[in-house]
Amino acid sequence: MTSPRTGPAAARRRFLPVLAAVAAALAFVPAVHAQQKVKVGLMLPYTGTFAQLGTAITNGFKLAVDEAGGRIAGREIEYVSLDDESDPAKAADNANRIVNRDKVDVLVGTVHSGVQAGMVKIARETGVLHIIPNAGLDAATGPLCAPNIFRTSFANGQVAYPMGKVLAERGVKNVVTLTWKYAAGDESVAGFKDAFTKGGGKILKELTLPFPNVEFQPLLTEIASLKPDAVYVFFAGGGAAKFLKDWQAAGLKGKIPLYGAGFLTDGILEATGDAAEGLETTLHYGDGIDTPRNRAFREAYRKAYKIDPDVYAVQGYDAGQLFVAGAKAVGGDLSKKREFIAAVEKMTIDSPRGKWTLSKAHNPVQDMYLRKVSGKENRVTGVATPALDYPPADRCKMGG
Ligand code: PHB
Repeated sequence: MTSPRTGPAAARRRFLPVLAAVAAALAFVPAVHAQQKVKVGLMLPYTGTFAQLGTAITNGFKLAVDEAGGRIAGREIEYVSLDDESDPAKAADNANRIVNRDKVDVLVGTVHSGVQAGMVKIARETGVLHIIPNAGLDAATGPLCAPNIFRTSFANGQVAYPMGKVLAERGVKNVVTLTWKYAAGDESVAGFKDAFTKGGGKILKELTLPFPNVEFQPLLTEIASLKPDAVYVFFAGGGAAKFLKDWQAAGLKGKIPLYGAGFLTDGILEATGDAAEGLETTLHYGDGIDTPRNRAFREAYRKAYKIDPDVYAVQGYDAGQLFVAGAKAVGGDLSKKREFIAAVEKMTIDSPRGKWTLSKAHNPVQDMYLRKVSGKENRVTGVATPALDYPPADRCKMGG
């Protein structure tokens, strides 16, 4: 005979509370998971000549997340921010710190192509999900492409190529180029030159100065003496504003036609007075894009930040849109990288700039607009090249 204290019924009685505890613990797991925040690393310039660009990208990213309710599948978002100072020498260490010490689920950044090279290196080594919201470093979606790396902005050559095409079609013959001497400047000039020389144009001279120097005077004197038909430049941020003011002060405005990648006149028109008036540039965004999508975005951005958005705000917003859509596709579990990647590769991003998709190299295939400065706006005057995939995605071998 079994006693009531040792028999199977007693064992069941003793086991029941254990079962209940396990069940309670299991029921608690999704709750704990839901409380764990999704960590987003923002590695961007918050000081120096590109400071305003980093802030606009951050604003845009957060706006997209807020519009999605500020949570992914019930999980809150935590931001870890780091000022990369646009300093390539610190880039790999900074990226390594934010990925391995702060353990972010996704690494977002940056603006400067030299810093980007360091971030891409760490993204390739660690496999962290990485979204590039500006830097045009051609190789990031070329020879250095990887399944976990996405760009929501442009490749440097992609923005410059259409400007070269437009000038060649207008019959412009001799051009001097001027830029900061670093990857973005070199690649911008190379993209411009590719289209311009194919169309019959000639580059008289390629002038440069080190990044982020703004001692333009001797270069302006040289340009005046070279007397080119036109000048093509790549500058951005605070440096672009200074360049335009110096160009006007040197008496070159209205004398030698000046063109550039659209960064020359984006986000700086408040600072340049009439120095930028009438300038034509090419870019994947313009202020006057008259679509309900763009109007709604501009209104929401202005309401949230009390300033008008620029191209950098749009790129940050689209980085936020890509992140939200990918994270939702994996139910907020960012460790499901393969599923995240498969989902965003198929997506069409409904951007204020117009709809775009990712190329095989994970760079936007997008229309490139011709714009003209009118007052405080970069007005779109036409599409310079539609749905441009440049440099061609076949330079990227995924996993290679
Ligand atoms: C870059 O370094 O790739 C870069 C920086 C600023 C811009 C555009 C490109 O506005």
